Amino acid sequence: MHEDAFFDVLRSRRSVRAFTDRLPDQTLLDRLIEAAQWAPSNHNRQGWKFLVFRDKAQIRELSEKVHHSLCESLASANRLLAAQGHELLHFATLFDKAPVIILAMHKKSPAIGRALLGPGGSGCVSSEALSTAMAVQNLLLAAHVLRLGACAMTAPLLAREVWESIPDLPAGFEPTCLVAVGYPAEKPSPPRRKSIGHIVEYR
Ligand SMILES: Cc1cc2nc3c(=O)[nH]c(=O)nc-3n(C[C@H](O)[C@H](O)[C@H](O)COP(=O)(O)O)c2cc1C
Repeated sequence: MHEDAFFDVLRSRRSVRAFTDRLPDQTLLDRLIEAAQWAPSNHNRQGWKFLVFRDKAQIRELSEKVHHSLCESLASANRLLAAQGHELLHFATLFDKAPVIILAMHKKSPAIGRALLGPGGSGCVSSEALSTAMAVQNLLLAAHVLRLGACAMTAPLLAREVWESIPDLPAGFEPTCLVAVGYPAEKPSPPRRKSIGHIVEYR
């Protein structure tokens, strides 16, 4: 592959939040997971799982539960938080019309951060979560080259109990993010990027 083609793929991938009703074929879904499979991971532990939901009614029900749960949390939140509530509800529940959602999960970390760094170590980012995020990025790029649309979402996970109450969750794993997938029904324009000068420090 020519390097320009690779950079074109990176630049032209967008978060797609509106989908047609068409369910992507199983072979396409398999390819998305294959892309995730080849991501780097800490010690090559591959401490990730991907739960793929394809049932329209179940996806809508999950979105409704997220809406309900976040409304309850916002009702008891302080005024500053509640003011952002409308936007949060929107971005947390718009997976309701996706034909497919994928719950990316990472293995709960051993307490090595805490053991090595003391009580402050609990703030260090879990390598399993980072590895799973990298797998999700592979998946998003694969969706793009397969002409699917996708969007990674963490706002829905703020309704934690909704995801924890899904039956038969893999033991020892917790949600990393949700990915909505389908055929795009929108072509978003690229959101502005900070300049390279702004984000890099060569030392
Ligand atoms: C960790 C993470 C969490 C995100 N959570 C949400 C979300 O909850 N809802 C949503 O609509 N988009 C979500 N997004 C998508 C971002 O809004 C999007 O990536 C950003 O605006 C840049 O747009 P682009 O992906 O089209 O380049 C999330 C993206 C990332 C990386």
